[in-house]
Amino acid sequence: MNIVIIGAGYVGLTTGLGFTKLGHRVACVDIDADKIAKLDLGEIPFYEVGLQELLVESQESGAIVFTTNLSSVVSEAQVIIFAVGTPATSTGEANLSFLFNAAEQVGHLLDHEALMVVKSTVPVGTNRQVLTKIREGLNEVGRTDLSSLIQIVSIPEFLREGTALHDFLAPDRIVVGADDPIVFSLVEDLHRGLKTVWVKTTIESAELTKYAANAMLATKIAFINEIANIAERTGADVRDVARGIGLDSRIGPHFLRAGIGYGGSCFPKDVSALHHIAGANGYDFKLLASVIETNNRQRDFFMKKIQDVLSPLKGRKIGVWGLAFKPETDDVRESAAIDLVQRLYAHGAEVVVYDPKATETAARVLPEGIAFAPTPIDAADGADALVVLTEWSEFREVSFSTLKSRMLDPLIFDGRNCLADLGLEKFGFRYIGVGLCSRKTS
Ligand code: UGA
Repeated sequence: MNIVIIGAGYVGLTTGLGFTKLGHRVACVDIDADKIAKLDLGEIPFYEVGLQELLVESQESGAIVFTTNLSSVVSEAQVIIFAVGTPATSTGEANLSFLFNAAEQVGHLLDHEALMVVKSTVPVGTNRQVLTKIREGLNEVGRTDLSSLIQIVSIPEFLREGTALHDFLAPDRIVVGADDPIVFSLVEDLHRGLKTVWVKTTIESAELTKYAANAMLATKIAFINEIANIAERTGADVRDVARGIGLDSRIGPHFLRAGIGYGGSCFPKDVSALHHIAGANGYDFKLLASVIETNNRQRDFFMKKIQDVLSPLKGRKIGVWGLAFKPETDDVRESAAIDLVQRLYAHGAEVVVYDPKATETAARVLPEGIAFAPTPIDAADGADALVVLTEWSEFREVSFSTLKSRMLDPLIFDGRNCLADLGLEKFGFRYIGVGLCSRKTS
């Protein structure tokens, strides 16, 4: 099939490249000319496992093209996928202006029947508004004949950064919301080659499923962080509790890693948006308000832990490992690590940071006074403490005896508990994690 994808961000690019793997021809459109120029040259503008290689492969075979000009590709499209951003406004709602602009444009340009797919994460009811915008556009240019033929389908994405391509090619499920059953078979054709479970439902249910999935996962994280806080006060160890509950198949083992809380471009935005959707529909979603508060408070607690030992922070030298909102990505959007680095710096600490991938992205948002080190050991050189904020696996490979010899004080605060099982006390470190039992020897 010929597919046009509008939006060349994480979702649009991964989806577009994924569809080339399934044998489709893809035209990817974005208003950002710099981004399109980079992609044209075969460069993915962010770090995501597997995409770079697939881009080169798909460009060589002619399976994907990039353009800023929607009108140049729309006439060939059998499927048009909307994958533009829906960032949160200051009040927590999703900003739908990019999506609606794209829909209007499609309405003005379309001259044949094509299936409209919304991948962007959008409040319940938005797909129908997008359809209305497309139809209005068609009517404005006198294509009223096409207007009633156009159908819209909601296929929310569940791609995780770091494993996005894998998630596209091996999805746990594909949720499809449509009005007309004919659309379901078209969508199955589009995904031919993928083994998955289909959830065929209404447009509204598909839209809500996306928010519910992210909100559920965020709630699990908030819950285990609350348990971690109780564990600290009672002498329990949150890792054992998480394992103990996670083995119950009704609960499951995932998203029960305690730490400094969730971040990224999705959970904070989507949890707030769902809370807002509930409010706009006359429902006070108390649980989600509490999840948001718990997640923010988790950073305060961690900061307090550092201050309790090192206060006053002014003049203290602190090494930081990790800036990305999670490992295997260079994304620092809403990263808890960035927030904590800023707080340490604001309290007067001398902060030296290291991240294997997120140096460039972090440098754009961190204050100038923060220094970047080329290796983890260099970040901790002469430091009063090391603070671990993203659980990159390479941190476990560091020579801890060298690290100890280079630090002024062998003190580690681990906001991800990712070094907790290494027995760092053996090397002479004082190790402070989140929700760990101080009596426990690993
Ligand atoms: C999330 C969802 O997992 C995807 O299914 C969804 O498609 C995506 O949002 C989206 O809406 O586009 P992502 O933001 O890439 O994916 O990251 P996650 O792996 O879900 O992690 C989110 C945050 O939770 C990270 O900051 C991570 O460190 C934190 N986390 C995760 C924990 O603190 N503890 C855990 O046990 C798991």
